[in-house]
Amino acid sequence: MNKKAIITSALPYANGEIHLGHVASTYLPADVTTRFLKLNGVEAYYVCASDDFGTPILIQSEKEGKTPAEYVAHWNKRDYDDFSAFNIEFDYFYKTSSPENIAFVQDVFKKLNDSGHIYEKEIIQFYCNNDEKFLPDRYVKGICPYCKAEDQYSDLCESCGRVPEEITDPKCSLCGATPTKEKTKHYFFKLKNFGDSLTKWLDEAPHLQKDVKKYVQNWIKSGLIDWDITRDIPWGVPVPLDGAEGKVFYGWFDNHLAYISTALKFLNDKGIDGKEFWNSADIYHFIGKDIVYHHYLFLPAMRLGIDSEYKLPDYIPTRGHLTLQSKKISKSRNWYIGLKQFLEFYPADYLRFYLISINPYSQDDLNFDWDDFTTRINSELIGNLGNFVNRALGFTKKAFDGKVPEHDSFDEKDLEAEQKIKNLASDVGTLMEQNHLDRALKKLMEFSSFFNQYFQHKEPWKKGPGTANCVYLSVNAARSMAIALFSFLPESSQKIWNQLGLDGKISSSSWNDMSLLGISSNHVLGDASPIFAKVEESDIEKHKSQLGPFE
Ligand code: MF3
Ligand code: ZN
Repeated sequence: MNKKAIITSALPYANGEIHLGHVASTYLPADVTTRFLKLNGVEAYYVCASDDFGTPILIQSEKEGKTPAEYVAHWNKRDYDDFSAFNIEFDYFYKTSSPENIAFVQDVFKKLNDSGHIYEKEIIQFYCNNDEKFLPDRYVKGICPYCKAEDQYSDLCESCGRVPEEITDPKCSLCGATPTKEKTKHYFFKLKNFGDSLTKWLDEAPHLQKDVKKYVQNWIKSGLIDWDITRDIPWGVPVPLDGAEGKVFYGWFDNHLAYISTALKFLNDKGIDGKEFWNSADIYHFIGKDIVYHHYLFLPAMRLGIDSEYKLPDYIPTRGHLTLQSKKISKSRNWYIGLKQFLEFYPADYLRFYLISINPYSQDDLNFDWDDFTTRINSELIGNLGNFVNRALGFTKKAFDGKVPEHDSFDEKDLEAEQKIKNLASDVGTLMEQNHLDRALKKLMEFSSFFNQYFQHKEPWKKGPGTANCVYLSVNAARSMAIALFSFLPESSQKIWNQLGLDGKISSSSWNDMSLLGISSNHVLGDASPIFAKVEESDIEKHKSQLGPFE
């Protein structure tokens, strides 16, 4: 394992609240992975930023009578607060509109320009006479020229995932009128130049998901098109060239550069050579599948275009979209659940447990379902794990006044239990390293379920000869579980730690500690009480009725 890592997750637009869809695919898996790497002694930093530029943000700020800077400052703080409440622990959360990012983007652009990867071209831009506005990107909808899907944005087809060169049958998405066309000068990035180097990179990158790679390679084979990287709007990173006054970069040109500029700012402020660190670390960019094109083509091509001065990503963990009660999340139809709102109902760890459990390392979509949530929390998290911890600790309290007894020599069942503890770090760790967070959590639940059965089988309440061994091993298993659980459920794992009477922060453990029998005889436990409270079905009906209605 590389001893350094930088982890990023797709930068949230500073344009509305974080909802369950965002955290499921991106922020939560990145947070869990970062915690895992840190426990393994990796010098890992999780950096993120708000994505501040772009036409939608400009227009929305105008609607609300704010300057765009005020508008994004509000969402930057709100997003950060919501993430924090969910225990998404960034080492640094910054913004794409930072002076550091603006300078960095302009510098990258100049280098690309000096190496001949940029050209100017007069283009025809949609203009809505009704709204009296240029209509970039999201403001024009039409038919995707590739897959013929209707009602697609001009800058991204959500049906086939491609970025159309020109949308068919365009309509202004503000008023529905057919826009007219006006001439303007834009700058283009020669993406076409990068077909071979991108193919080589993809072929040689060992850790990228195979299925994603495959269809990106197909996109490359069917021909790349150059990329329009500027816009005629007053909100964005200014194009640093004479004659480019009034032009700014398209948001997708500058936003992913904030992965680097934010990491550099953070590392340099810490007194670490940021560039040196970046280039010797494993680089992870966690994303949702809607932005594969940008992360597998634009982002690496731009890094290649500046001679890989900053190395390309090693991992781009890509996951599917979250649906809600089997329907597509839609804010306008009130078919979504804000993160902040959810956390008013249930602890962060319930949502973390549920979302990790249902989220495979693949592009398959996943579904949030209130009934499934209830079952998984009540019967798996509480019925299995919570129950075991509470039983083991509660029994030790009651029967031994909280003092772990001297154990005898182990019988066969004890030896099996001991072996489970010894194997746990590698059993769960291997899956974590492969990004299979859902399977890792499942392994941990199997461990818990084994110990439930072990406890049941040993019947310590009968105070027979095997009792001391059972208590000793069960209490140790609870400790192992707590460490393994930390990446997934940080609050609950700390609670278990405290109840075990162990000192300090569980976060200062190391991963392999879970495979030691770290609690010795005569250790005195803390106070035991149930870690979790059941989800009530009557509440669930209320939550369901708060969604929608779909007109
Ligand atoms: N804000 C973009 C989105 O929500 C993601 C930006 S990720 C970055 O789709 F790489 F470009 F920064
Ligand atoms: Zn479209």
